[in-house]
Amino acid sequence: METGEIIQIFAESGFQVDPAALDMLKTSASPELIQELLSSIDSSVIVVGAEHLLSAPAVLQDKCGKGITMTLPEVRAPPIPSEGKNQQVSASVTVLKDISNQSTCIGEYTDFVGYFKDRYTLLGDLLRKRISARPVESLKKRNMDTREPLSVIGMVLNKRTSANGHRLIEIEDSTGTIPVLVHKEKDMELFEMAGSLLMDEVIGVTGTLSADSSLMFANSIIRPDLPNTQNISIARENARGKAVFISDIHVGSKTFLEDAWLRFVDWLGDDIDYLIIAGDVVDGIGIFPGQDKELAILDIYEQYAKAAEYLNAVPGHIKMIISPGNHDAVRQAEPQPCFPERITRLFRSDITFVGNPAMVDIGGVKVLIYHGRSMDDIIAGTHGFSYGDPAKPMASMLRFRHLSPIYGGRVSIAPEKKDHFVIDPVPDILHCGHVHTVGVSRYKGVLTINSGTWQSQTEFQKRMNLQPMPAKATVVDLASMEYKINSFG
Ligand SMILES: [Fe+2]
Repeated sequence: METGEIIQIFAESGFQVDPAALDMLKTSASPELIQELLSSIDSSVIVVGAEHLLSAPAVLQDKCGKGITMTLPEVRAPPIPSEGKNQQVSASVTVLKDISNQSTCIGEYTDFVGYFKDRYTLLGDLLRKRISARPVESLKKRNMDTREPLSVIGMVLNKRTSANGHRLIEIEDSTGTIPVLVHKEKDMELFEMAGSLLMDEVIGVTGTLSADSSLMFANSIIRPDLPNTQNISIARENARGKAVFISDIHVGSKTFLEDAWLRFVDWLGDDIDYLIIAGDVVDGIGIFPGQDKELAILDIYEQYAKAAEYLNAVPGHIKMIISPGNHDAVRQAEPQPCFPERITRLFRSDITFVGNPAMVDIGGVKVLIYHGRSMDDIIAGTHGFSYGDPAKPMASMLRFRHLSPIYGGRVSIAPEKKDHFVIDPVPDILHCGHVHTVGVSRYKGVLTINSGTWQSQTEFQKRMNLQPMPAKATVVDLASMEYKINSFG
């Protein structure tokens, strides 16, 4: 078959093809066979390589004849540096929650219905511990005593300001919808909270009904939030070790700060046990129009090979955990799976690769890692939030008990059967990146870390007037939960 013809079939199926796979198919494949092969490849794959063809069902490989029996060049996992072995703490990593290899969604309409039902059930259960709610439909029954306060739990379907300046929030549960009026002069705190509600948030409302039961007057609105007992202790007495949090390295970009990075790796000493990276390991290819002009490395795999060179040089005793971001070569829809084997084999074999989001236990401390793309939507939708202060949207995530509440914004959400964005159990540390600014704070005993970037201001950021805070790393003592932000710029 002609090369162009093969590339065309791949493109129509939403895949790219690498040169080795192309060579294998040119000799003996037919269009039908390629289509059959592609239908057996996981939709999270972006570039189809020889290894994907070799892992296709045997019957398909047979049909391809000798071409497909070609073997891959052997890539040996790079050695783990042995110097600086830490004798004090034996670092251990346990993955508690991760989408990788568990994706079930196809993206059908019914998948979305199931996904939102699961979100409503999980967040509704958290709210039901605090209020006794009735189904929305039951409010519309005749003979309701409209003077008695009652509660409902629903998802925010719409919000607007009425002609008289009151807030009108429409909420929905699985039985129906009801508009909720928040009076502008009754309770200022409640009025402001109603203004801060985001679309698709799950909330509880307590109030009274209008005489015809068609409208609810809110007395209070509650979010799932963290329990107040979270405030009691910050220290995690049984935990051990020190962890460093970074993200958004953006290897491959012309603005990657190599000198600062090398100073950082030099600084990583015997006292550090873990290095956690919350996505955007490389700058990627074709992430935004005209990106190629800002790239120092134009091939995605060469970008990862360079990133591996940098990370493989991290002292051997440090346990690294890496999750992807929107610049990385995995599916863009969240939750994202971990890097494919084609990328991970470039890195040291002791690195733990997880999806986005993922919850891990390091030395007795639960860390929830999420790249943080939803912050674009949360910041845009909330008065007073800005990119310069990422602690605020991160505290909001904990109040929502959800990492990405808004559907239809910047984050494209894959409708998995389970809502992987629901924050349960409560982590000790929430670690995000994406916004390229640094902000470390505490919300009800959870340490929230946004860890900045390792690239200087890009052309795009200049145009958007975004000021990055590059070359910083946050170190946390896992027992005391005290932290320090170190600068390498
Ligand atoms: Fe980034």
